[in-house]
Amino acid sequence: MTTVLKIDPKHPQQELILQAAEVLRGGGLVAFPTETVYGLGAIATDAKATARIFEAKERPATSPLIVHVASIAQAARFAARWPDEARALADAFWPGPLSIVLGKSPIVPAAVSGGGETVAMRAPAHPVAVALIEALGEGIAAPSANRSSRLPPVRAEHVLKGLDGRIDLVLDAGACPGGLESTVLDLSGAKPRVLRRGAISLARIASLVEVEDASRPASEDSSGWIRMAPVGEFEFTEVRSGAILVRERALAEGVAVRVLGEDARAYASRMYDALHELEDAGCEVVWIEQLPAGSDWDAIRDRLRR
Ligand code: TXA
Ligand code: MG
Repeated sequence: MTTVLKIDPKHPQQELILQAAEVLRGGGLVAFPTETVYGLGAIATDAKATARIFEAKERPATSPLIVHVASIAQAARFAARWPDEARALADAFWPGPLSIVLGKSPIVPAAVSGGGETVAMRAPAHPVAVALIEALGEGIAAPSANRSSRLPPVRAEHVLKGLDGRIDLVLDAGACPGGLESTVLDLSGAKPRVLRRGAISLARIASLVEVEDASRPASEDSSGWIRMAPVGEFEFTEVRSGAILVRERALAEGVAVRVLGEDARAYASRMYDALHELEDAGCEVVWIEQLPAGSDWDAIRDRLRR
């Protein structure tokens, strides 16, 4: 049984936070909102608890988790060392959607590092996430709260679509404000490298440290559930289809359409929600209108292609 607790996103009720922290302390799994997407949390220092995340999500064991913290001091306990660059970046972007990868300290369970030598850490900005970490007094290891290779959840309902009955608790604070996941930045090597594009742009990071884009190029092929193309190239067959447009346009009758607008930030904050709506409407294919040019759209383009 998965318990759902409705909680105020701005002023989380302390008794609900304490209840969720108690579940985590006992080795349970709690889904909670962050400013990007909902995370599926376990106490980061407990090998058994963190291993349960992989079962619930059916996630491959080699895929490492992000440790969510409330401060640089708390993050530093999970890292073998905390270099100046990490300090500068955390000072600039925390709390916020930047995950920093460093060599791990001995307190990091093997499950959290995916069997590797490094650990990713970030301080989320959502008041519910902050309150939960503070009440637990320990880091929370959390991937996005979806089944492996499904859409990331930006509402509690999306979490339940994939994980109802598989986790102990969901803190339901409504929609996540941000949309895109955190940017993952690897500081464990000789030179900072972006491993995953996300909510903090490459340009903003590059204004502080010299950084290399090492994010895997997303495939350009248009054969999956989500297909990106100029509107003129959309192909609607008999299957129920959806479309996500930048600008309002008339499409074939019966196509489920969402118009997300020409502002990259607003688009990002609606994107996953719109995809969930189209999934729930039974769409078997979703056409995405080719995105406007410009680096503001890079991370969005990248996330949609995956
Ligand atoms: O916004 C977010 O990052 C959300 C919220 C819940 O914080 N979390 C999230 O987690 O998207 P997940 O597990 O779905 O994606 C984490 C990404 C994966 O691409 C993973 O490979 C990478 O971060 N990652 C985590 N630990 C890493 C490590 N030690 N080294 C390299 N990459 C790592
Ligand atoms: Mg994920």
